[in-house]
Amino acid sequence: MKLTLPLILALSLALFSLALAADPAASPADAAQTLFNAKCASCHGKDGSKTILSKPVKGLSADAFTTKMKGYKAKTYGGTKKATMEKSAADLSDADIKALAVFVAKL
Ligand code: HEC
Repeated sequence: MKLTLPLILALSLALFSLALAADPAASPADAAQTLFNAKCASCHGKDGSKTILSKPVKGLSADAFTTKMKGYKAKTYGGTKKATMEKSAADLSDADIKALAVFVAKL
C-alpha cells in the first residue's frame, strides 16, 4: 500500500509530539521555577533568601505564602514596600500562586 510510509511518518510525528508534551521539563514544578526566576528572583534571589530589596520568601510555608500573595493581590496585606508586591502579584492567577507556593515551600 502506497500510503504506508506517509502514515508511519505521520504517526511517528504524532507520537513524538506526545512525548514532547509529556517531557518532565515542562512539569508544573518547573513552570513555577521558571515563573519565579522570571518574575520574582530579581528582588528575592533565585533561592528566595535575598533581603536587600525585600523580605525573604525562603522559609515561608505554602499556606503562609498563599495568604500573603492573596493579600498583596487584594491589597489587604503588606509593609512599607507593599506597592512593589501589589504590582508583582496583580497578574498572577490563583493557579500561579498555588504552583509558586509549592515551589517556595521547598526553597
Ligand atoms: C521589584 C522587586 C520585587 C519583585 C519583582 C517581587 N517582589 Fe516580593 N517583595 C518585594 C518587597 C519590597 C517586599 C516587601 C513588601 C512589603 O513591605 O510588604 C516583598 C515581599 C514579598 C512577600 C512577603 C514576605 C513576607 O514574609 O511578608 C512574598 C511572599 C513575596 N514578596 C513573593 C514574591 C513573588 C512570588 C514574586 C514574583 C511573582 C515577587 N515577590 C516579586 C519585592 C519584590
